Amino acid sequence: MDFNLTEEHLMIQQAAKDFAAAELLPGVIERDEHSKFPTEQVKMMGELGFMGMMVDPKYGGSGLDSVSYVLAMTEIAKVDASAAVIMSVNNSLVCAGMEKYCSEEQKMKYLVPLAKGEVIGAFCLSEPEAGSDATSQKTTAIDKGDYYLLNGTKNWITNGSTASTYLVIAQTDVEKGHKGINAFIVERGWAGFEIGPKEKKMGIRGSDTHSLMFTDVKVPKENRIGADGFGFSFAMNVLNGGRIGIASQALGIATGAYELALKYSKERKAFGKEIFNHQAIAFKLADMYVKVTAAKLLVMKAAAEKDEGKDIAHSGAMAKLYASEIALEVANEAVQIHGGNGYVAEYHVERMMRDSKITQIYEGTSEIQRIVISRGLI
Ligand code: CAA
Ligand code: FAD
Repeated sequence: MDFNLTEEHLMIQQAAKDFAAAELLPGVIERDEHSKFPTEQVKMMGELGFMGMMVDPKYGGSGLDSVSYVLAMTEIAKVDASAAVIMSVNNSLVCAGMEKYCSEEQKMKYLVPLAKGEVIGAFCLSEPEAGSDATSQKTTAIDKGDYYLLNGTKNWITNGSTASTYLVIAQTDVEKGHKGINAFIVERGWAGFEIGPKEKKMGIRGSDTHSLMFTDVKVPKENRIGADGFGFSFAMNVLNGGRIGIASQALGIATGAYELALKYSKERKAFGKEIFNHQAIAFKLADMYVKVTAAKLLVMKAAAEKDEGKDIAHSGAMAKLYASEIALEVANEAVQIHGGNGYVAEYHVERMMRDSKITQIYEGTSEIQRIVISRGLI
C-alpha cells in the first residue's frame, strides 16, 4: 500500500521497526510473564524521540506529524503492545493535551521533560463509578482560593505507578454538571496522593495499571488547565486524538499476528504439504489480510485528517472501533493457524490475543465508539 509516505515517514517507520526488533522483542515474553514494566526500553524510546513525537521541538518533542506517530506506534505494537500503550498515553493523551491546552508556564515546567521522555505522564479520567459515563465524576476539587483541594479515587490508570505527572479530571461544581469539571496537573509525591496496588491483568501485562487515591491533595491554582469549567471538553478533545493512538496499537497487534501466522503457515507441514496450501488456512489468511488492510486505511485516514487540522472525533472513533474489533479476530485466527503452538507463549500469538482484548475497552469501549459514530451521522 502506498499512502504517499515521504522519505521521513519511511525512515521513522524503519527506526521504530528496528528498535522493536532489537530492544523490545528479546524480553517481551518474560515481561508479560512477570508483569514487568519495560523501564530500560521506555528510557530508550525517550532518547529516540518516540515519547513526544508530535510535540514542537521548542517543547522538547520531535515535531513530527500524526502519520509518523501512527507508523511508529504500529511497529512498536506489532512486537510489544504494552510498550505501545505506555507510548500512546504519553504522546497522544498527555503531551498532546498539554501542548494544545496548557499555558506557556505549564508547558515549560511539565511538557518539556515529558516530551523528551525524561519522565512519563498519566491521564486520569476513569473512576470506580465513572467509566463510560465519564460526566459522572465523583472526584472533587474544591476551590480554596489559591489552591484546589482534591479528593477521590481514579481507577485503571495506565502508567499509574511509573508516571511523574498526572492529568487529573475532577468535579469542581456539581451544580454545573459537565461544565463544572476541571483538569489539573498533579505531581507524584504530593501529600495525600497515594498509589494503589498494581492490577493483575489478562493482557498488556508489561504496562502498569493502578488506582490512585487523593485525600486533601492541595493543587495550586496555576495547575488548572484552561478556563474554569473546561475540564470535560479537555478530556473529550484529548481522547479524540488518543483514540487514533489506540487504533494504531490495535492495528499493530493485528498486523503482527497476521505476519506470524503467514510465516508459520509456509513452514508448518501437515498431510504432506505446507498448511498454507490447505485452502481453509489460506482463506483464513486472506480474510485476516483484508481486515488488517481495511483497519490500516481507517487509521491512516484518521491520522491524515488530524494532520490536516480536521475534526477527528468521528474518524478516530471509526479507526479505533474497527481496528480493535479486528485485532481480536485476527489474533484469534493466528492462534488457530499455529495449532497447539499457538497456545504457548513461545510463539507470541497467544499473548497478542490477550493483549488485543483491551483495545475494545479502554479510551472508550466499542459501544461508546458506536455512540460517537452514530451521533456523528446526524
Ligand atoms: N469531542 C469533543 N467534545 C465532546 C465529545 C467529543 N468526542 N463527546 C462529547 N463532547 C462534549 C459535548 O459536545 C458536550 O459538550 P457541550 O455540552 O458543551 O456541547 C459534552 O462533551 C457532554 O457530551 P454529551 O452530552 O454527549 O455527554 P454524554 O454523557 O451523553 O456522553 C460520552 C459522552 C461520549 C459517552 C463520553 O462520556 C465518553 O467519551 N465516554 C468514554 C470515556 C472514555 O473514553 N474514557 C477513556 C479514559 S482514558 C483511557 O482509557 C486511557 C487508556 O486506557 C490508555
Ligand atoms: P462501564 O462504563 O461500566 O461499562 C460496562 C459495559 O457497559 C461496557 O461493555 C460498556 O460498553 C457498556 N456500556 C456503558 N454505557 C453504555 C451505553 N450508554 N450504551 C451501551 N453500552 C454501554 N482510564 C483512564 O482514565 N486512564 C487510563 O490510563 C486508563 N487505562 C486503562 C487501562 C486498562 C488496562 C483498563 C482495563 C482500563 C483503563 N482505563 C483508563 C479505564 C477505561 O477507559 C474504562 O475501563 C472504560 O472507559 C470503560 O469504563 P468501565 O470499565 O467503567 O465500564
